[in-house]
Parts: sequence; C-alpha cells; structure tokens
Amino acid sequence: KPLVFSGIQPTGNLHLGNYLGAIRKFVALQAENNDCIYCVVDLHALTAQLVHDDMPTQIRSITAAFLASGIDPVKSIVFNQSAVPQHAELAWIFNCVARIGWMERMTQFKDKTGGKNAEQVSLGLLAYPSLMAADILVYRATHVPVGEDQKQHLELARDIAQKFNIDFGAHIRKAGLGTDVLVGDEPVHAYFPMVEPLIGGPAPRVMSLKDGTKKMSKSDPSDLSRINLTDDADAIARKIRKAKTDPDALPLEVAGLAGRPEAGNLVGIYAALSDTTREKVLEQFGGQQFSAFKPALVDLAVSVLSPIGEEMRRLLDAPDHIDAVLRDGGARAREIAEKTMQDVRDIIGFVR
Ligand code: TYM
Repeated sequence: KPLVFSGIQPTGNLHLGNYLGAIRKFVALQAENNDCIYCVVDLHALTAQLVHDDMPTQIRSITAAFLASGIDPVKSIVFNQSAVPQHAELAWIFNCVARIGWMERMTQFKDKTGGKNAEQVSLGLLAYPSLMAADILVYRATHVPVGEDQKQHLELARDIAQKFNIDFGAHIRKAGLGTDVLVGDEPVHAYFPMVEPLIGGPAPRVMSLKDGTKKMSKSDPSDLSRINLTDDADAIARKIRKAKTDPDALPLEVAGLAGRPEAGNLVGIYAALSDTTREKVLEQFGGQQFSAFKPALVDLAVSVLSPIGEEMRRLLDAPDHIDAVLRDGGARAREIAEKTMQDVRDIIGFVR
C-alpha cells in the first residue's frame, strides 16, 4: 500500500513555490485517501543556520500552513522531526552506508557552499540528504511529493536504500525481513522500498516574479520576487501587477511559451492554482495581453491564498492547538519509526 511522506524546513516564510510544489500536493494526496505523513524538518533547519531566535514560531508557522491549507491532522500524521529521534538514528546508519562523493555531487550542496572552504561548511550540511533519506525510509514510505529542486536528493535516497539492501541482503534474509525484488536483473532481498518522487503538475518549479530564470525562494533579497503565504490581498495584487513579463500577448499553445520564462511561469501558476493544465489556461487566455491576464491571476491567487493566510494567523494566535497536533502526530510517528528501527537493529546485529 502506498505511503506518502514529505517535509518542509522551518526556515523563513513559506511562499507560493512551497505551496504549489509541495503543500497543495500534500492536500490532494490526502484527499485521495492515501496514508500521509507530513513533517516539519526542524533538524534540517540547523544546516541553514545553527542558532535560531524564533525556532518555535517557525515550527508552529509551518504547522499552521499545513492545517490552514487543508491537511487534516487526524487523517494524516503531522509532526516535527526532532520529536522522533529515530530519524537521527537511521541517518547515522545511512551516513555509514552512503559515500562522501555522493553528497559532494549534490547541486544544492555545491550552490550553498560555492566559494567557501571546508572550515566554513558544517558536516550537517554535507550529510543533509542522508537525514532526508532517513526521514522517508524510517516509515518505509513509497511516495514523496516535492518540488523539482528536491529531485536529486530523492535519487540519492534511492541509492542509499539500494546500497543498504545489497550490503545487508544476507542479514535481511536471516532476520526474516524484506522481500525479493529485481534490481536491474540482479535479485536482491530488499528491506527498504525504492521511493517514487511525485514532482509533476503545471508548476513543479515556481520561478521568481522578477526573473523567470531564477527559482522563487525564501532567500531572494527582493520580497517582490515571491508571494508569501501570509501576504494579504493588497500585497498579492501588487506583486502580480509588478511581476516581470514580456511585451507579447499570451500564445495560443503551450509550445509558444518556449523561451518566454516569465509568461510560462505565470501561466503555470494560474494552472496550478486552479487545478488545471497550462493547455486549458491558454485555451482561455491565449491571444490576450498580460493587462487582461494579470487581474484574473490576482483574483484567483487572492481567492486561494487569502483564506489560508487568515487561518494561519488565527491558528498562530493561540498555538495550543498547533502544539497538541504536533504532540499527537509525534507519538503516532514514533510508533511506526520505532518498529522500523527495531528491524534495522536486528538486521545490523546490534544486541538488544
Ligand atoms: P524546503 O523546505 O526547501 O521546501 C519545501 C518544499 O517546497 C518545494 N519548493 C518549491 N517547489 C516549486 N517551486 C519552488 N520555487 C519551490 N521552492 C521550494 C521543495 O521542493 C519542497 O518540496 N529538503 C527538503 C525538506 C525535506 C524533505 C524530506 C522533503 C527534508 N526531508 C523528506 C521530502 C522528504 C527542503 O529543503 O525543502
């Protein structure tokens, strides 16, 4: 049976990229009656910045965004990573399975460390993908909804799972665990599943509103480059009105968006916010000027995002409910994770 897992870092404001690339998909997967586990990855946040003045607020605000967007904490499990120490325990084992070269090849690691020397880069930042693999595999989750920027990390999670399965193949069998699968044409007795990234949809990579070749990101110095989940209607309208475009009308077909990154981005955002395709959006708006399209996009964005922002503020006003959700989710997550770790300790041969 499919099991969905994903996580979001409690670092900075959530933006439209996080919402369309991740949270909106979390809600859709829950609506399809999958078992879903959604995590605020507070341990990962230490790799961006070690000391946070407002860590509790950041954790609660991601949780509030989950709830306000429609994640039901009874149906799905919502918790913060540090509440389940099994993530860190499995990550240590994966640190011994994975190779340093695999980590050094990650483009996100290279982007974040470019120009720095090894004295300035934490070991945690290098090992980041190993903890991410542990997040997923400690539940033996099979499906992971993320934005496109996480694709390489999920491929690495598959490599780690596969190497663990091969290295410990005989032990897995001896412990009476796992199932026979083919890796290429080699039979392997596998304990961890191969995770499937869920990246599709019309906006897997939401771009900056100021530069269609740059990803929308929390760290862009210009607030006009992104729409935050907590922006009010005026701010949303202003940012879309000021969004960079080109002088041409919208094309009639998706092929006409090639070489027009800003136009492609806005059409993708419209499609994702209205649960349709870019084709359908162009059937409606193709041939029209941005002066006609932008007001429609403002109305749509405000109608989807304002209620989420309002509900987040309401939840954050009295955080007891949020904290209770995290405690309950943490307890349910620990139970599943501990079962996996008991298996893993047996597979390795730790005496217990
Ligand atoms: P994070 O916190 O940077 O981002 C959270 C999610 O938002 C997506 N995203 C985007 N999607 C589309 N367009 C964008 N401009 C955009 N910016 C961000 C990200 O792809 C992500 O899905 N490493 C992860 C957190 C993590 C995780 C995990 C995810 C830790 N463990 C296990 C899945 C499974 C991260 O830093 O996401």
